[in-house]
Parts: sequence; structure tokens; C-alpha cells
Amino acid sequence: MPKEAIEPLCQSLSLSRADIQGVLSFYHTFRQSPGGKHTLQVCRAEACQAMGSRELEAQVKALLGIDYHQTTPDQLITLEPVYCLGNCACSPNIRVDNQIYGRVSKQRVSEIVDELQTQPLTLATEVKA
Ligand code: FES
Repeated sequence: MPKEAIEPLCQSLSLSRADIQGVLSFYHTFRQSPGGKHTLQVCRAEACQAMGSRELEAQVKALLGIDYHQTTPDQLITLEPVYCLGNCACSPNIRVDNQIYGRVSKQRVSEIVDELQTQPLTLATEVKA
């Protein structure tokens, strides 16, 4: 949501700027600046952490050269944390756009990042583990 939209939204909903800002900052799916073409999320909740998601997030950050809440310079990938994707039995999990990938190894996350950077359309056909 662009910053210019906040004031008209306040007026049309009869809410304060703080009310709108509170909703925007609470829900992670709202952005106040444009994201990349793809959003890659690494699950940071307990089950995934127990199964190695911390190593995955370090690897993804290194591969992309960005931290959480940042977008690659080519505007291709935005990296976000997520706190449980509801697929704990298949931890560790990542999500690319609307596709969840379970039991992701360090090798597999490298392949996924490479696919995003080189062949972004092939990901839509993959099923989750
Ligand atoms: S803890 Fe990662 S999917 Fe639930």
C-alpha cells in the first residue's frame, strides 16, 4: 500500500492514521513499498528451526545477498521470514509465492533459488513434498 493511500483510507473508513498503520505493520502480507517479482519465505517457527531452517535462511541470505525484508537489486526476489506455514510435519519449509516446499535441504534451496534466477516459470509445476 503506497503511503499516499493511507490518508484517503483514513477518511473513507473514519479511522485514524494510527489505526491504519497498526494494521499495515501487524499483517506481514501488507507492504508499503513494492516487492520483488517473487517472494521467498523461510519458516522460522519451532518445528522448522528444529529441522534446520536457520541454516537454510543463512544460505538463502548469502545466495541472494540480501537480508529479510529486502529485495534483490534486480527486483526479482523479496526475502521474508514466516512463522509457520502449517506444514510442520515436512519441516523445514520454505514458500515461493504461493507454493510451499517441504523437507527442503541446503542443496534443494540452492536449486530453487537458481531456478528463480534463471527459469522462473518452471516453479509453478512443482508439487510440495
Ligand atoms: S514450523 Fe514451519 S511449517 Fe510449521
